[in-house]
Amino acid sequence: MVKKRLCCCGWFILFSHLLLAALVCSKNHGNPANDLVEIINNNRTAHKLSKLNDSPGLGCIALQYAELCKGNCSINNTVNCKPSEDDFTEVFAPDCGVELPTFGTITGHIVGCQSKYLEPSLAFAHVLVRDSKALSILRNKSHTEVGVGMVRVHKGPFFWSVLFSSGKTNSTFVLENRGAGIQQKKGCYSGSSIPCSAGQQNATLGLNNVMIMGFLCVVYLLKQFHFNL
Ligand SMILES: *[C@@H]1O[C@H](CO)[C@@H](O)[C@H](O)[C@H]1NC(C)=O
Ligand SMILES: *[C@@H]1O[C@H](CO)[C@@H](O)[C@H](O)[C@H]1NC(C)=O
Ligand SMILES: *[C@@H]1O[C@H](CO)[C@@H](O)[C@H](O)[C@H]1NC(C)=O
Ligand SMILES: *[C@@H]1O[C@H](CO)[C@@H](O)[C@H](O)[C@H]1NC(C)=O
Ligand SMILES: *[C@@H]1O[C@H](CO)[C@@H](O)[C@H](O)[C@H]1NC(C)=O
Repeated sequence: MVKKRLCCCGWFILFSHLLLAALVCSKNHGNPANDLVEIINNNRTAHKLSKLNDSPGLGCIALQYAELCKGNCSINNTVNCKPSEDDFTEVFAPDCGVELPTFGTITGHIVGCQSKYLEPSLAFAHVLVRDSKALSILRNKSHTEVGVGMVRVHKGPFFWSVLFSSGKTNSTFVLENRGAGIQQKKGCYSGSSIPCSAGQQNATLGLNNVMIMGFLCVVYLLKQFHFNL
């Protein structure tokens, strides 16, 4: 009688954790860079500014920017890094497969880093737009398009990068290979249908879940074993 109830309880715990794991996994399966673009646009339109177009080519360049600055996260979560103009056209664009003649004018950038992963809305408020300088960049009327990149240093901080441009959406930062560009090995960028690549939050959460599940199975089996003796 007692054994049966405990067994049932074990299955219940196992099942509810499975459900929780599935929920956590699915919740983080999107692309946080796309979420951030939406947050930026909601903030702009709430202040009667134009909605910016989501440019995948610019997003990929933002990811390269974050990738280059990855080693430079200061204690106060500011990124101390200044890529040269040549980096944009000679490194970032070719690494993304942006067609060089379509490289537009960059009208602003905001970068930030944080030791732990924050939801895009928190990253917006606490990492990227936390002073009047960043706010005035966000609210500049010259921008017409935006691109966001996010990357994590292996087991280290998360880097966010936002680039603004005054270009015309489908004629600037055009990705070769009919808009597919060059596939990125790390991080994620806005305007892309590809979810974040390896080394991201997804991977760590997945591993945590596997460990929790493993632990629960062991506990469950030990319980079973104990009562069978
Ligand atoms: C962050 O630290 C750097 C030096 O490491 C300093 O120059 C900068 O003003 C600080 N920023 C803020 C927002 O405190
Ligand atoms: C990163 O910081 C180091 C040390 O402050 C500096 O020498 C280096 O130029 C920075 N990297 C970039 C890309 O700005
Ligand atoms: C808006 O951005 C443009 C291009 O970077 C710059 O020239 C201009 O000074 C900015 N305007 C404001 C109000 O910051
Ligand atoms: C826009 O973002 C700024 C900076 O985080 C914040 O102070 C402001 O309340 C936001 N506006 C809206 C309408 O969310
Ligand atoms: C560019 O965008 C405009 C409107 O956003 C659209 O009408 C046009 O067909 C697009 N051109 C191409 C080549 O996709």
